Amino acid sequence: MTYEAKTFSISKLEGISKESVDQHIVLYQGYVKNFNSMTELADQLRQADAQKNALAVGELMRRRSFEFGGMRLHEYYFPQLEGGAVALDAGSALGTALSAQYGETTGAEKEMRTLAGLRGPGWSILYWDPVARQFLVGFSEEQHQGHFATLPIIIALDVWEHAYVLDYGASGKGSYVDAFFANLNWGVAEKRFAALA
Ligand SMILES: [Fe+2]
Repeated sequence: MTYEAKTFSISKLEGISKESVDQHIVLYQGYVKNFNSMTELADQLRQADAQKNALAVGELMRRRSFEFGGMRLHEYYFPQLEGGAVALDAGSALGTALSAQYGETTGAEKEMRTLAGLRGPGWSILYWDPVARQFLVGFSEEQHQGHFATLPIIIALDVWEHAYVLDYGASGKGSYVDAFFANLNWGVAEKRFAALA
């Protein structure tokens, strides 16, 4: 089965230009296309001569997870910017759980901001661990590494340069992270968390 790029309805954002969002969505579409292409190519190589092409197929399989990560993480990222900025409802299941763990509803955001500041491309991600019943914040390098295996994502913050270089330049990550949280629709995160209950 091939994957299809999703569409997103993002209205005017504060501090993140339409041009930046448009270019970013084109990059996302590239991940979807590449994942499909690599799957198809690996199938062709296997069918042609599985033994002779084993190394090439192995490399395609290894890199395919990078493309998948890029596809799926952006499908978490863009909807968070749909519908305009919405504050976290402190009385929601998510707000209550965040307060219980961090002592304040902003605790996870603070940790996400800290990890977003790490050098190199990646994602600062808020996960929920349903086994320990606690939040974990992690940093996924590139798109496919550094994840907490199987944990559902509540908020995915893209801190690759392509997310901010157009608006803020190469050293503008901090301003972009401020803009991301200023535009964040916490209602999307609340729905993700509520669906896990
Ligand atoms: Fe991105």
